Amino acid sequence: MLDATYWENHYRGEDTPWDIGSVSPALKAYIDGIQDKNLRILIPGAGSAHEAIYLHRAGFTRVFVCDWAPSAFQYLRKEAPDFPEGHLLVADFFKLELEVDLILEQTFFCAIQPELRKAYALKTAELLAAGGKLAGLLFAFPFDAEGPPFGGTRDEYEHLFAPHFQMLHLAISNLSIKPRAGRELFIELLKR
Ligand SMILES: C[S@@+](CC[C@H](N)C(=O)[O-])C[C@H]1O[C@@H](n2cnc3c(N)ncnc32)[C@H](O)[C@@H]1O
Repeated sequence: MLDATYWENHYRGEDTPWDIGSVSPALKAYIDGIQDKNLRILIPGAGSAHEAIYLHRAGFTRVFVCDWAPSAFQYLRKEAPDFPEGHLLVADFFKLELEVDLILEQTFFCAIQPELRKAYALKTAELLAAGGKLAGLLFAFPFDAEGPPFGGTRDEYEHLFAPHFQMLHLAISNLSIKPRAGRELFIELLKR
């Protein structure tokens, strides 16, 4: 079962093959294009939270990370001891109560059971203020093996997000790390 204990055990056992060890180049490029350092930003299923550390060091002050595995944030606490403790949300993403302007997606969507994808689309939209955006990476193909990670297709994502978001961008990322090259879509969705 993909519950908090499942993920917590991975962190405790230092078995985190999804962790690319630094901010993903596609998200770094997206973040580098943001001028407003007061933007409220949420990273769900943040894990080691390399994107949050990058944002923090770049001067963004309202960055929130959510992960329900308590040990996930050990790395963030070590790397960025001045990251506001109150912005570390050890909680189930689907139960968060918060309002933000931007949600950044990095291997959280692929980690949840596919049956929860409609709930993900709805919850991300609910957490966003008017004019808010969801941006980040999604796998561009279904995996052969049972997940996580769970893949998907461009068509599936278009249908999934259409009720809540306008699709601003959906294309294969040219900034994926080598093992994921050509296998990830970069999305930018505007809340309806
Ligand atoms: C594949 S890992 C990705 C972590 C990080 N984004 C990265 O790329 O290194 C998925 C993360 O989502 C977290 N997660 C899964 N379901 C969650 C939920 N319902 N609420 C909060 N966190 C969740 C797990 O604990 C895990 O840290």
